[in-house]
Amino acid sequence: MKILLVAGARPNFMKVAPLLHECDRRDGIRAVLVHTGQHYDDGLSDVFFRDLAIRPPDHELKVGSGSHAEQTAEIMRRFEPVCKVENPDIVLVVGDVNSTMAAALVAAKLGIPVAHVEAGLRSFDRTMPEEINRIVTDAIASWHFTTEPSANENLRQEGIPEDRIHFVGNVMIDTLMTCRKRAASSRVLDDLGFRDGSTQPKPYGVVTLHRPTNVDDPARLKALVKALRQVSATLPLIFPVHPRTSSALDRLSCSGGNSPLRFVEPLGYLDFLQLLAHARLVITDSGGIQEETTILEVPCLTVRANTERPITISSGWNRLVGTDPEALVSACRQELTKGRRRPQRPPLWDGKACQRILDVLTGEKSTKRVRTMDPEP
Ligand code: UD1
Repeated sequence: MKILLVAGARPNFMKVAPLLHECDRRDGIRAVLVHTGQHYDDGLSDVFFRDLAIRPPDHELKVGSGSHAEQTAEIMRRFEPVCKVENPDIVLVVGDVNSTMAAALVAAKLGIPVAHVEAGLRSFDRTMPEEINRIVTDAIASWHFTTEPSANENLRQEGIPEDRIHFVGNVMIDTLMTCRKRAASSRVLDDLGFRDGSTQPKPYGVVTLHRPTNVDDPARLKALVKALRQVSATLPLIFPVHPRTSSALDRLSCSGGNSPLRFVEPLGYLDFLQLLAHARLVITDSGGIQEETTILEVPCLTVRANTERPITISSGWNRLVGTDPEALVSACRQELTKGRRRPQRPPLWDGKACQRILDVLTGEKSTKRVRTMDPEP
């Protein structure tokens, strides 16, 4: 069985890594890795290949940045010949970025069955590009691998047949569990001055903001930075800045200066995991970080009006603070005076999601497959 795995942007790499490793461990599976090049900087791409021991991609599409239409179209244009040459039995896509949807569309139209890992998540907010990507990918996938019960329900509501929905857990958490020990030897806390000789780091918070709704409007970003400065007077904050946010901050001529709000370059997987694991508090608009903090048992304040990952809220570690910067400041204040809570781990977030996915894929005969593509390029 030949499985073609697609990765393109930062949040894909930690999901594809354990799947690729699981494929490589199993007899009878040949995995082919395609990197679309949606993300291409060392800090957003190469460092993840090194940290997660992902072998070099078999195909690099090098699409780069562009508008949504340009990027999606370019991925489709360059991915189609790869599918024709490789002629895989399954195209496996992860998450909700443009590369996910573009690759799924190409495969489905060539009659190659698509497996979607992290299917069914819904924010019910169609102004988010990722929500469109999720809906389209799920509409054409043959296997829907889900991370939480809400996703199963969303897929049922959309008419996806029950036998296509497979509740398997969270592959990103597989990676987190595998890497936790290695991350503990990262020197990031020493380098950032949060640990000077003692084993217990000083209290600090971590910030990541990159959603267009938070960073593309200069007035909104300015108000958020002002709120973060206020919080940092009580709790020093470290903010690894995504390139989209970095350009927006440059346009505002905004820097942390000597304030306890420090902007740094994006971090690699192991350094970032170590930073998250010891944080007193995390402020984010990322989807994946809401899940990682849930497992690490670190309070997370999500600067969004909604989340497609409601289990992170019911588990008790994530809270939606909405989009008002004032509300963020008061939520941080409340969080810092709160006592410890009882941990609740979401079901099946146990490090074995990839095994379950491969068990399903290998147990299936490809009877659902409708071949329309030419066997030869
Ligand atoms: C993309 C995903 C988003 C994900 C995020 C994680 C979509 C629709 N969005 O958003 O879901 O949460 O990745 O990072 O797929 N840039 C660089 N170097 C790079 C890549 C991008 O400097 O390696 C800059 C470019 O100027 C680009 C901007 O960052 O225009 C935004 O990149 P893009 O991939 O368009 O969207 P993200 O905001 O990264």
